Amino acid sequence: LISFIRTTPLRLLEKCSKHFGCEVYGKLEIYNPTGSHKDRESEEILRYAERKNIWRLGIASTGNAAISLAAYTYINALKCYIFLPKTIAAERLAQIRAFNPTINFSDTYDEAIAQCNENAERVGFLNCNPGVRVEKIIGDSKIGTEIAKQDWTHVVVPTNNGTLLVGIWKGLRKADARTRMVAAVAKQTKLAEGIAGFHRNEEPALSKAVKDSKGAVVEVLDREISKAAQLLASDGLIVEGAAAAAIAALERLKHKSKVCCLITGSGLKFPSCVRELLSTQPT
Ligand SMILES: Cc1ncc(COP(=O)(O)O)c(C=O)c1O
Repeated sequence: LISFIRTTPLRLLEKCSKHFGCEVYGKLEIYNPTGSHKDRESEEILRYAERKNIWRLGIASTGNAAISLAAYTYINALKCYIFLPKTIAAERLAQIRAFNPTINFSDTYDEAIAQCNENAERVGFLNCNPGVRVEKIIGDSKIGTEIAKQDWTHVVVPTNNGTLLVGIWKGLRKADARTRMVAAVAKQTKLAEGIAGFHRNEEPALSKAVKDSKGAVVEVLDREISKAAQLLASDGLIVEGAAAAAIAALERLKHKSKVCCLITGSGLKFPSCVRELLSTQPT
């Protein structure tokens, strides 16, 4: 297995800290090989595939997970099947196509998930859909382990299916952390494609993690996501909308003193999204 994962930076975000009146750290998952935390999941899945001698893998995704799995299978000479909603942005599709997987389009994300589930058995590939593979949670749990050395009041996670949040909670818990897990969600969004809809395919583990940690689910709006992206830019980070949602959620949190926000996706991959996010200058 060709492996690239290294510990990602945990950076104090000075402008964000000043704005929210507490210590705000960013766990910079944008430094992973394809620019998102999905590489943690792909790498663990490939380790499993290697152990089991599996050479065909498939996933339904709105972009980052597909880009990551396609890249990892490509460099390891494995076969990849990608199931996409046909609404996927052209610049995301181009990055998936670069790694030459077999692509199947559906009308919606939910249909893409169903198509992948159906085809996994018929075609005979390893189904890597959210909620299916424990390896993804194991991959993400390493983020929890990496941030567990410090005492956080909150860890804020941009959330769609909940795999990332559940994984981080698993890694944190092992280290006996007392931290509220906050899911930043965006049900109606045009700017945060990666978390659009809040699909919760990782239930019941997602609700359990939020409840056990005395955390919360916080919904954010596009204008708040845009403002958060501008704030992150003032700290030198160009992110995609889903990542900015974690910072946007801070506005709603009480009793925060030291928070860790998951900066999950790089804006450098999605310039048209960034153009919209940063359409006004930071104040
Ligand atoms: C950039 C980004 N952040 C966060 C998430 C949410 O991850 P999860 O589906 O594990 O909740 C995604 C999912 O695609 C994503 O692309």
